Amino acid sequence: MKNVLVIGSTGQIGSELTMKLRSIYNGNIVAGYIPGCEPKGELLESGPAAVVDITNAQQIADTVEKYEIDTIYNLAALLSAVAEQKPQLAWKIGMDGLFNVLEVAREKKCAVFTPSSIGVFGDNTPKDNTPQDTIRNPRTMYGVTKVSGELLSDYYFIRFGVDTRSVRFPGLISYVTPPGGGTTDYAVDIYYAAAKGETFVCPIKENTFMDMMYMPDGLRACIEIMEADPAKFIHRNSFNIAAMSFDPQIIYNNIKKYVPDFEMIYQVDPLRQAIADSWPNSLDDTCARQEWGWKPEYDLDAMTRDMLGKLQERFKK
Ligand code: SER
Repeated sequence: MKNVLVIGSTGQIGSELTMKLRSIYNGNIVAGYIPGCEPKGELLESGPAAVVDITNAQQIADTVEKYEIDTIYNLAALLSAVAEQKPQLAWKIGMDGLFNVLEVAREKKCAVFTPSSIGVFGDNTPKDNTPQDTIRNPRTMYGVTKVSGELLSDYYFIRFGVDTRSVRFPGLISYVTPPGGGTTDYAVDIYYAAAKGETFVCPIKENTFMDMMYMPDGLRACIEIMEADPAKFIHRNSFNIAAMSFDPQIIYNNIKKYVPDFEMIYQVDPLRQAIADSWPNSLDDTCARQEWGWKPEYDLDAMTRDMLGKLQERFKK
């Protein structure tokens, strides 16, 4: 793999993944963006960028052609809570957009990575140690697009041989680009509050467990699954991956070890709480470990030390 198009390169995952891909590969690593979300600074200066609106198949095809792209990272999406506010747009980006990407990939013979999510699971999925192959019955538009995306991606592999691969991401936590409109965002926001010396107002109830992952592990997953030898794959779209599971009280207590006067109060957001309640407490990622060697490096404490260190440094200035 040498020439890569990242669609959604200025978003939560894309902004970091594009830089990481550029540090690994010598080819064209193209930062695809939509007007209004232009790349800036290092992201703009370190490689090519192109306007690629996922809902515009021609723009995708032209960019793939121009830069001789062999791999597409399809990172355009609305996160779960905002997708409930704008379900029509969430479908347009998540499904019409994915269809455009897969059609271009079929014609131009590209591999495709599309992140899926813990959001594919719903109320009647086993909550603890959620298996790889189990009921996917979400009642959110985010989950509906992710399940449909998994099915469509597998279809393109089986029917047309398009090399589609995917992981089901937990909540991703990073100090670089904040997420927007997700249910797991609280686990990012809590670090910002702690580093700024503010009281954190938690929108999720105590005892609500969800899977989470530190971004460096998430980026490695994106790259390692695309580099993996597919001979061992039994699954493709999509693999459960996991790193840690906690509820608000556990992450708060962990941060308090390093910021002793940190305070948190609860003010539950009913929309986010309902979504969180429908998601698993913890995923079983055995298949990813066995089929392509997945292994997380960060646990909660290692993540907390790194997040607080980076953010405290930033807010000191
Ligand atoms: N982080 C996502 C969300 O909360 C889940 O994949 O919407």
